[in-house]
Amino acid sequence: MVRSGNLTATRAEILQLVSGAAAIVSDVTVCIDEEVLNRAGEQLKVVANFAVGFDNIDLDACAVRGVVVTNTPGVLTAATAELAVALTLAATRGLSQAEAELRAGRWSTWDPSAYCTPQVSGATVGVIGMGRIGTEYARMMKVFGTEILYCSRSPKPDIAGTLDAQRVSVPELLSRADIISVHVSASSSNRHLIDADALALVKPMAVLVNTSRGSVVDSQAVATALREQRLWGAGLDVYEFEPSVPRELLEAPRAVLLPHIGSATRPARDDMAKLVAHNVVSILQGQGAVTPVPCEPRQTRVK
Ligand code: DGY
Repeated sequence: MVRSGNLTATRAEILQLVSGAAAIVSDVTVCIDEEVLNRAGEQLKVVANFAVGFDNIDLDACAVRGVVVTNTPGVLTAATAELAVALTLAATRGLSQAEAELRAGRWSTWDPSAYCTPQVSGATVGVIGMGRIGTEYARMMKVFGTEILYCSRSPKPDIAGTLDAQRVSVPELLSRADIISVHVSASSSNRHLIDADALALVKPMAVLVNTSRGSVVDSQAVATALREQRLWGAGLDVYEFEPSVPRELLEAPRAVLLPHIGSATRPARDDMAKLVAHNVVSILQGQGAVTPVPCEPRQTRVK
């Protein structure tokens, strides 16, 4: 039997829905913690997250109960990398602001000095987190004749070779890159990895892009840096307390803000749904997970 909530299901409704379930299908908005797991009961076998990220799930609590957690890696890589590229272009070239002016009837003439911005082609791009999505983003950005710097917990010799990418520390990346794109997963150790101290290192004409998780970036610090012109632009798809978008970001100049749509292409969402279903069926049939999340939470901060 399938019981399903909807996007507005309250916590109480979710607790009721999971009671007695063998499988829970969750998305990033649903917090799977001890209370949910306890309410589900001992027959629960799998929590299948409709997302590649899994920071909404208490992995330790699942591990203790022998509940397998699965996610949807791979199938949304292109979609999310593509959106990071779109945000890179939009934030660097000031597209939101330029379009808003046109729509408001404030475009009066072609002006050689108006709407001038930095340029993506030939820029130095810093990729923080060289997993699947970070790598695909770097590959796409290479088309613009960029130099790629990256940070990751371990060296990626293959990628470095193909993309001629250089592995550097986070501070070095921040101080050298013209475009900084964040692709690390959320964890307590990565919370506010990009904070006021980090932003103090960036070039004033740099652009920050975040399509990973909102908690990795201190939005207050980003808004201040934009206002004080210590950061040229920001392209953000994710926020720490979604769907709330901090007022300071909404009011910040040169920020392109999107409603967490990284994986929102039809092919990606269809494939995510199929992968979730395969995981659930495979586990309930005793054949193991197709894409299990490692039991150990990844707590190391990218350096
Ligand atoms: C993910 O998959 O983690 C996205 O953020 C949700 O699409």
